Amino acid sequence: MDPELHKDVVTLNMVRDIVIDGSTVAMRVVLTTPACPLRERIQQDIEQALIGEIEGITSVKLTWDAEVTRMPGLPGRQEIQGVRNTIAVSAGKGGVGKSTVSVNLALALHASGAKVGLLDADIYGPNIPIMLGIEDEKIMGTNEEMYPVMVNGIAVISFGMVLKKGQPVIWRGPMLGKALREFLYNVVWGELDYLIIDLPPGTGDVQLSLAQSAPLGGAVIVTTPQDVAIADVARGISMFQQLNVPVLGVIENMSTFVCPHCGEETSIFGSGGGEEIASAYDIPLLGSLPLDPKIRTGVPGAGPVLAAEPDGPIAAAFRSVAEHLAGQLSTVNLAGASAPTMPSGPRIPLRQ
Ligand SMILES: Nc1ncnc2c1ncn2[C@@H]1O[C@H](COP(=O)(O)OP(=O)(O)OP(=O)(O)O)[C@@H](O)[C@H]1O
Ligand SMILES: [Mg+2]
Repeated sequence: MDPELHKDVVTLNMVRDIVIDGSTVAMRVVLTTPACPLRERIQQDIEQALIGEIEGITSVKLTWDAEVTRMPGLPGRQEIQGVRNTIAVSAGKGGVGKSTVSVNLALALHASGAKVGLLDADIYGPNIPIMLGIEDEKIMGTNEEMYPVMVNGIAVISFGMVLKKGQPVIWRGPMLGKALREFLYNVVWGELDYLIIDLPPGTGDVQLSLAQSAPLGGAVIVTTPQDVAIADVARGISMFQQLNVPVLGVIENMSTFVCPHCGEETSIFGSGGGEEIASAYDIPLLGSLPLDPKIRTGVPGAGPVLAAEPDGPIAAAFRSVAEHLAGQLSTVNLAGASAPTMPSGPRIPLRQ
């Protein structure tokens, strides 16, 4: 049984190329995401099922591979060529760390071996180029065929790459929708397992129309642990519910602060907010990230924490969130379009 997908690995077509040589069985195990934390467990279970249960088998040789599952797509939305999954990163309000999370999740998924793209759809504050140190890069190509900027192995496109520095955004809704569609469909993304889309903060009309124009496979909601943030998250969940986009989970950012001098852990913004939301709406808490100056991006020369300190504890926290996220997406994809995983909590009307 796959411990996360709760189906047997044969039905899931994860077992391939079986070779039996005397008492040794060799096979290739194809995971649904390279960001799978459960290899050891799956290996143990396969060994147990073969060596433990079948007489004459004394050893098992596994090779690992991954084929990322494809999102079932939404009715009436055009697929993006070559892109298996799109994941919207959203938040009820600004400044909770959406862009920081988007960048580091993209890097963590890439580090696991996945092919990843990052679309900065934040028209008000497109700061992903600054976070990745590519603020002077411009999009190459034409409106019909645009090329993303490659940085740290990730294909990146941002509204910031078409604006001059400091230029204010005064686009109206229809223009925004058109620009986003060009970014989604006219960019030569290549083959991508995951396209992360950093949406603007909030759940107003602009966010709604952006989320409506993209064929989203799932959404994650970033929040901070304050009580007041919970209502914002509820609105975010409600927005995706209305759009029939599965909410893959909540990420709690700035959860605790560990004093660099004495090591004492303080819950500056309270604690348990993410968990509360997760249980109220029956959506998973994908993980909590600490408040840590090392996570602050945009510090000249520092780069995102995942690239700067890939072996540190913060990188490990982001990796764990990325693994949970990828696992949730596989589960939702395998459940198929017929049975979308929707939060079963109360529906809260969208404030227009
Ligand atoms: N866990 C953290 N620890 C320390 N600083 C953080 C953390 N998360 C984010 N920050 C910092 O907080 C600020 C806001 O983060 P970020 O820009 O990612 O938020 P956002 O939700 O995308 O904001 P906006 O709504 O403006 O798009 C940034 O300066 C970022 O570096
Ligand atoms: Mg942002």
